[in-house]
Amino acid sequence: MARALGAGPVARGESELADDAVASRDVAVLSEAQARAELERLAGLINAANKAYHADDDPEISDAEYDRLKHRNAEIEARFPALKRADSPSEQVGAAPTEGFAKVRHAVPMLSLANGFEDEDIEEFTQRVAKFLGLSEDALAYTAEPKIDGLSLSLRYESGRLVQAATRGDGAEGENVTANARTIESIPARLEGAPDVLEVRGEVYMSHDDFAALNARQEERGGKTFANPRNAAAGSLRQLDSKVTASRPLAFFAYAWGEVSEPFAQTQMAAIERLSGWGFSTNPLTRLCKGAQELIAHYREIEAQRGELAYDIDGVVYKVNDLALQARLGFRSTTPRWAIAHKFPAELAWTRLEGIDIQVGRTGALSPVARLTPVTVGGVVVSNATLHNEDYIAGRDNKGAEIRGGKDIRIGDMVQVYRAGDVIPKIADLDLSKRPGDAEPYIFPDKCPECGSAAIREEGDAVRRCTGGLICPAQAVEKLKHFVSRKAFDIDGLGARQIEMFYNDDQLPIREPADIFTLQRRDAENLSKLKNREGYGARSAEKLFEAIEEKRRIGFARLLFALGIRHVGEQAAKLIAGYFLGWDAFIAAMEAAQDEDSAAWAELLSIDGVGEVMARSLVTAFAQPEERASIDRLAAELTIEDAEQAAADSPVSGKTLVFTGTLEKMTRAEAKARAEALGAKVSGSVSAKTDLLIAGPGAGSKAKKAAELGVETIDEDGWLSLIEGL
Ligand code: IVH
Repeated sequence: MARALGAGPVARGESELADDAVASRDVAVLSEAQARAELERLAGLINAANKAYHADDDPEISDAEYDRLKHRNAEIEARFPALKRADSPSEQVGAAPTEGFAKVRHAVPMLSLANGFEDEDIEEFTQRVAKFLGLSEDALAYTAEPKIDGLSLSLRYESGRLVQAATRGDGAEGENVTANARTIESIPARLEGAPDVLEVRGEVYMSHDDFAALNARQEERGGKTFANPRNAAAGSLRQLDSKVTASRPLAFFAYAWGEVSEPFAQTQMAAIERLSGWGFSTNPLTRLCKGAQELIAHYREIEAQRGELAYDIDGVVYKVNDLALQARLGFRSTTPRWAIAHKFPAELAWTRLEGIDIQVGRTGALSPVARLTPVTVGGVVVSNATLHNEDYIAGRDNKGAEIRGGKDIRIGDMVQVYRAGDVIPKIADLDLSKRPGDAEPYIFPDKCPECGSAAIREEGDAVRRCTGGLICPAQAVEKLKHFVSRKAFDIDGLGARQIEMFYNDDQLPIREPADIFTLQRRDAENLSKLKNREGYGARSAEKLFEAIEEKRRIGFARLLFALGIRHVGEQAAKLIAGYFLGWDAFIAAMEAAQDEDSAAWAELLSIDGVGEVMARSLVTAFAQPEERASIDRLAAELTIEDAEQAAADSPVSGKTLVFTGTLEKMTRAEAKARAEALGAKVSGSVSAKTDLLIAGPGAGSKAKKAAELGVETIDEDGWLSLIEGL
């Protein structure tokens, strides 16, 4: 089975091997010297691929290529057992390359940016901001600056000294790369006159010239070359040996900040000037603009200069200039409301569609994947692309309207592929004039290719799904992969590759999540021990058991997300866990909510952010007997920690609020965002669960109902004084 789509498509390995005579020679005819050299080369390539894959940077080679390398390594070792290396890749189970870096929890999370592509997206953005703040559009100024295509870094200064540098990681927790950051020339080691605590954030990048020179040097020495400057910068910063980083030409632009002990500016522009004053490089193309039209004009100017810039950029970032307004706008779950990245159009390339594979996901969705003749798009080799669903292949969108002028996609077609940012490649168009005469319309399967169960499409669903449930091995494996993934259980040494191996293991199978936590017990009772399996030794088996043991204690939200219930993503899981707080209370609520006339069902729907679709999906997951039994077996193995109440010290945290009537000092959107940021739940209707009603002028039936139910009611000024200073 192929890896998750996003992880699979990039390939670099093929060309590297092409002109190397030994690399393509049959194992049977290798001399001993050639075999030794070949084992060394394979160890290098496989270890690099493990590192790229497991450290969650872009994987560099395709699954097929990885398997080919491992197979060849095993073949040579079988023929020349004496040549087996101490660091043989056959002894390793997906190296954990990041082990060398300590984890750092960011004092202020490192967020990403919402994206816009069209001018209209930017117009909508400026309208949205003005509306949220209740200000007129022309009153608002924004900074516009290039979006650097590198990797973000947070630098912590205490008393003017650089004390810590951390990568973004998952936004909440990154890696400590302090020693490496100290080797970067444009990062000052000391700041004069800076706040006592100051976290400076920005982008580490490599210029085009430096990238070309580095690759030439690497090639000369037979070292690894990089696909593009971004990968080179990432690979260079995340070196365990800071001497290697020091030898790499990295640079840094500062553009933001995290924790600060005292404010150091009132506007974005002034803040950038302060950063520059302390010795940071800041981008010279940063401008102050008013309104969408000025922003778009500056975007066009930067776009026109893009080819001549010394470094890669992939768009222009707009930020509300006034920092007080930024604070009022606040954040959505992972992006600020006060900023947007206006991305450049994606690069395009033509190639041939060689075939269509159907992958079955954890919720049974049949996803068609285009297998392409490999082609370079934006510096990366692409060999597959998503085809979304059967309507998309047929030339229709999910409302039945024509796309691509109604042209259907057929195997053999010349197709135009693009990569929008770092995401999965897509197909933009196809060339009918190049269609082979015998190309047939693609017939989407109505049976699951993995388990043969009927694959059906429910009304209103764009996706066809396998009905096999737990009997479908593809669904089971994908669910397990999701279960161990980084934002779920994140078990060291148990990644997608190992899940596939254990799933198919007859002696020590992992077929459902609970099996992970019984693995060590079963191993102890078993004659065929893990340590004797290919890829394991006593040490690595022990390490895996330890890593599993470490995750036996788990937070409620993480567990809920890990279950992979349809429509319940990471944010939803946090929301639900934050509402029910404890696992037992949640389970009881799910049982009670099976009856859609029950108070429990109404309560589930009253959680802001939980709609009917999600609620039904949740309730069904716990109502289905086999699935429920599997969850119970898992829960019995775990210690589930209660969820934390967000911002527990605010007077409204954990409370359910309702706003009604007209608010005069802030918009409804802002009031709701503030309340949620303070840990409150905002509901649209008054019920016995409501803790507080904030009623502006013109409040009607809701105020009446609140009075009947004895719900505390305050006006807007009461609300403002309640949250003042928080
Ligand atoms: S501001 C809270 N400004 O883009 C917002 N980000 O897609 C913080 N990036 O993770 C980001 N150039 O790595 C900002 N001038 C710029 C940027 C920039 C590049 C990166 C950054 C961020 C990503 C979000």
